[in-house]
Amino acid sequence: MNNFSSLKVVGLNKVTSDSVSITFEIPAERTNEFKFVEGQYITLKTSIKGESVQRAYSIWKAPHEKELAVLVKKVENGVFSTYANESLKVGDVLEVMPPQGNFVPKLNSSNKNHYTLFAAGSGITPIFSILKAILRTEENSTIDLFYLNKTKSSVIFSDELNNISSENLKIHYLYTREEVEDSLLKGRINKSKLTDLAEAGLLNLESYQYFSCGPEAMILDINEFLASKRIEESKIKFELFTTSGSDNVEEIQTEISESAITITIDDDEFDYVYKVDSAESILDEGIEQGLDLPYSCKGGVCCTCRAKIMEGTAKMKINYALTDQEVADGYVLTCQTVPTSPVLKVSFDD
Ligand code: FES
Repeated sequence: MNNFSSLKVVGLNKVTSDSVSITFEIPAERTNEFKFVEGQYITLKTSIKGESVQRAYSIWKAPHEKELAVLVKKVENGVFSTYANESLKVGDVLEVMPPQGNFVPKLNSSNKNHYTLFAAGSGITPIFSILKAILRTEENSTIDLFYLNKTKSSVIFSDELNNISSENLKIHYLYTREEVEDSLLKGRINKSKLTDLAEAGLLNLESYQYFSCGPEAMILDINEFLASKRIEESKIKFELFTTSGSDNVEEIQTEISESAITITIDDDEFDYVYKVDSAESILDEGIEQGLDLPYSCKGGVCCTCRAKIMEGTAKMKINYALTDQEVADGYVLTCQTVPTSPVLKVSFDD
């Protein structure tokens, strides 16, 4: 039912000691389906020790490189990331969903813009794709990249970044555990660091757009700092790894104790009852009922579980992925959606 295709792994390259790049073969008849734009991600699915596991990973190639490759960093107790780093082999087949995501700049060859990009650790993945696409498409635009890592040896894509020779790109490496001469480049990217960088003239407060990818604390600090400088929200784009969950989750009060849910997916309709006390979201309840619904992060961060409300009302506990326009158009992240009406009809097809 899900939109997965079986794709063969044709490239596996260790990028650092704990991260690997996976390249997929795209059969000729699937080229259109797997076309992507800079900054997007794909969802991978496989069975590990008898359990079905699916995760979203950002594409690090730019569209003009014509290769579908993602980076997987091994995380502690990460089932998929450990498998990808230690067991996956060239020739293996994974289930792959077509590229998705709104973490995308609007590029045009006639633009002459300045972009500020922030990345921490493996957050460089979509940022690297965006960076290469800007340099390729907008030859008159300039970029500042602020890239935070623990140490020099943990820098992902260090060689690839060094090999880009463009006067339009300035890379500012920051480290948390590396001794550096300039104290400005030591330590996390937080509000005080951003203030220092701006005061030193390194952080441009008149950029056309700001893109950041990394942990929640960094993203929230960047967003608050830029907002305090009266930078329009529409210029600020971000992608989170995961959410801590607690701070930004909306407590949803609903008068109903249950709701009759109808899900449309791939032109089929499925009905089930959502009991307010028993499930986290309509996605969880649907999966519990045996439906094969699309998801990746289950944290409101990607938008793999996006669907449209066709009838009834609902609220999301958290939303880091949908734009205001999508929300106004009735889209929801089903992994965060709780019904607030006795009947709720939702379509994954619209
Ligand atoms: S599964 Fe990622 S936002 Fe719902």
